[in-house]
Amino acid sequence: MSDLIERDKRHIWHPFTQHQTERDPVGITSASGAVMTDTDGREILDLISSWWTITHGHAHPPLVEAIASQAAKMSHVMFSGFTHEPAVQLAEGLAEKLGAPLSRVFFSDNGSTAVEVALKIAFQYWRNRGETKRTKFIAFDGAYHGDTFGAMAVGKGSGFFSLYDDLLAEVLVAPYAPTFLGDDAVENNEDAAIAALEAIIDHSGDEVAGLIIEPLFQGAGGMRFCRPEFIRRVTETARRAGILVIFDEVAAGFGRTGSLFAHQQCEVKPDLICLSKGLTAGMLPLSVTVMSDEIFNAFCDEDFAKALAHGHSFTGNPLAAAVAVKSLALFEEEATLDKIAEIERSHRLFAASLSRHDEACRVRVCGSLLAFDLASEAGTYKSKASLGLRDFYLSQGFNIRPLGPVVYLMPPYCITEAQLSRAYDGLLHGLNQL
Ligand SMILES: Cc1ncc(COP(=O)(O)O)c(C=O)c1O
Repeated sequence: MSDLIERDKRHIWHPFTQHQTERDPVGITSASGAVMTDTDGREILDLISSWWTITHGHAHPPLVEAIASQAAKMSHVMFSGFTHEPAVQLAEGLAEKLGAPLSRVFFSDNGSTAVEVALKIAFQYWRNRGETKRTKFIAFDGAYHGDTFGAMAVGKGSGFFSLYDDLLAEVLVAPYAPTFLGDDAVENNEDAAIAALEAIIDHSGDEVAGLIIEPLFQGAGGMRFCRPEFIRRVTETARRAGILVIFDEVAAGFGRTGSLFAHQQCEVKPDLICLSKGLTAGMLPLSVTVMSDEIFNAFCDEDFAKALAHGHSFTGNPLAAAVAVKSLALFEEEATLDKIAEIERSHRLFAASLSRHDEACRVRVCGSLLAFDLASEAGTYKSKASLGLRDFYLSQGFNIRPLGPVVYLMPPYCITEAQLSRAYDGLLHGLNQL
């Protein structure tokens, strides 16, 4: 065992890790483009963008430069009563890309806090307007929105948080309508899910402050993809009952699904949107909750009690904001959406051969994402086969992190055709070993 791993094991508690049974962590010394290098000098292709954060590539030079030049000017300043160019520029850029009415930006530090902020705003919006009955939220089965208490409450449909049930706010869980390539039941499933949502709203709609959904794919809940039509119908159904609609694009934003934002394919806009992960291209922690001025105005009053009493020490951090501004610019400077379209084309070609493999079922592709279920283990979360596949694949120089029986690839957009092709071959090799 290397010295680094020994020192790690003495002091560190890793996230989502059962330390009793998990294999030793891999020490990483550097990362560039789509490749990470470990302490033995071995190269590992990062096929899940380091928890879905890396977009343009690890240590992409223009992003490194954006952080360095901002750090030389000003690294941090409190954000209540003060402001600065990187934050204002980022808010302007996001408002322009998101389009009206999403024009008011609240900064926080990660996906979970962006969701907490959205939930608090939706709740307080109704209070500030004198409507005290709207205290509940609608969320979806299989949804994951983060690990803080509000986020866990709306993520209760994932089943991850039942231990904390007694501590969680009341949430009404509606069915999602997942689909895959060649699914001929999708329309019926969507109709049934919308009917179930309508029944919830008929019964309790006037007690609901907001509805939260992950557009186009549910991430941690199992890479469940849905059609844009479903998101549009959910949004319209909620709106008819006056419910605020929150899109959680923490994972889906910044190109993952093929468009800059996933909802742009759904022809509907939310009242609030949560963004993080790819916001800074994975370089620094930062998140935003963006909403309309109509919502913001409900918090403006002579009385401080109507203000949003929420903030973090690092709110609007200038280094993170500066790199996010540069990342947004790179989407045009480097024609990033074209690169994602290329990845999607490759995924679709590979999906055809993957679908013929006995071990793969429910193959699905959306933008830079490819996912499938292991046929022999569908339905079981503690999938030994997928962990075996992960470890074998790692031994061949590829990093994935299956979600139970669900295997997926979500590479950084700089991945080359040759790297992808090696990854596909390695994956088929791994499946043949099962
Ligand atoms: C859709 C979605 N929302 C929220 C979160 C929470 O983000 P974070 O881990 O940055 O708190 C995640 C994390 O994976 C996510 O996928």
